Amino acid sequence: MSVEELRFRRFRRLRRTDGLRRLVRETRLTVDTLVYPLFVVHGHGVRREVGSMPGVYHLSVDQLPYEAEELLSLGIGAVLLFGIPERKDELASEAYDPNGIVQRAVRELKRVAPELVVITDVCNCEYTSHGHCGVVREGQILNDPTLELLARTAVSHAEAGADMVAPSDMMDGRVLAIRVALDRAGFTELPILSYAAKYASAFYGPFREAAESAPAFGDRRSHQMDPANRREALREIAADIDEGADAIIVKPALAYLDVIMAAAERFDVPIAAYNVSGEYAMVKAAARNGWIEEQRIVLEVLTGIRRAGAHMIITYHAKDVARWLRGERLAAAVEQLVTA
Ligand code: PBG
Repeated sequence: MSVEELRFRRFRRLRRTDGLRRLVRETRLTVDTLVYPLFVVHGHGVRREVGSMPGVYHLSVDQLPYEAEELLSLGIGAVLLFGIPERKDELASEAYDPNGIVQRAVRELKRVAPELVVITDVCNCEYTSHGHCGVVREGQILNDPTLELLARTAVSHAEAGADMVAPSDMMDGRVLAIRVALDRAGFTELPILSYAAKYASAFYGPFREAAESAPAFGDRRSHQMDPANRREALREIAADIDEGADAIIVKPALAYLDVIMAAAERFDVPIAAYNVSGEYAMVKAAARNGWIEEQRIVLEVLTGIRRAGAHMIITYHAKDVARWLRGERLAAAVEQLVTA
């Protein structure tokens, strides 16, 4: 072998076989890190697909036992609950009604599957007649009066049996307000997963159809973050941790991988990334047209989110991914048996 040949690095040596590639792989996607969002509606026997999110359903409470069983059998251990109320009003009354849709869903899930981690989204936008995240007066979304509603909602979710509450409204001070209210109500052990860096994003479009939460006027730019800002996200996260957040969310994921990475480097709390509805819908639409390979794209996307530093991923792809990962594990086991 000539000296010239040794002057360059042969990276391909470690990429030669699947066994070698598996050994040196830096990032692993596992089902343990996935959180599956669920949309719960009133009624009975409801299982209605969301138009812009193929494979995602509106479910009535009586469907939840089947859903929980499927998730647990796939190894998915956590859900994030959203509710679509019977009626909406100015003060989002059903959000903190002990018999509201989310409260009933939590009780049912904890009854049939106590080991399933039930996380609840705490926000007003699905519950207000105007579709905004807070109390509106003269066209303005008021910060401090909204905190009271959020705190009541979080406590009522805790009373129903939620394992973790996830405020997604982006009002200032909500984590502190919720922490204080939970502690006063005796829920000192209940963790808060804060949507700390949530951007004013067009990627929430399909979710707003699913949750019937599009604002009737204006937009969410007075409280959700400007997509152009990364340093500000770090201030938001630091403030939420200070106020008592146990873990934080960066949302959306794909256009914000730099924010996930900066957050993972700077903070020592668990970081979740929300692979949101628009990201899901784009993949589904292209796959349906035969333009991309769905499985490879989804695994690549979620691996990228993990590589950026996210510990948990909230994703509508969770069930598919669990099946694919299981298939892969099975294939590897079979291969070992055959070669043994
Ligand atoms: C607010 C909320 C939204 C999402 C999660 N919680 C929508 C919004 O802020 O308008 C979006 C999730 C998604 O797009 O998948 N309750």
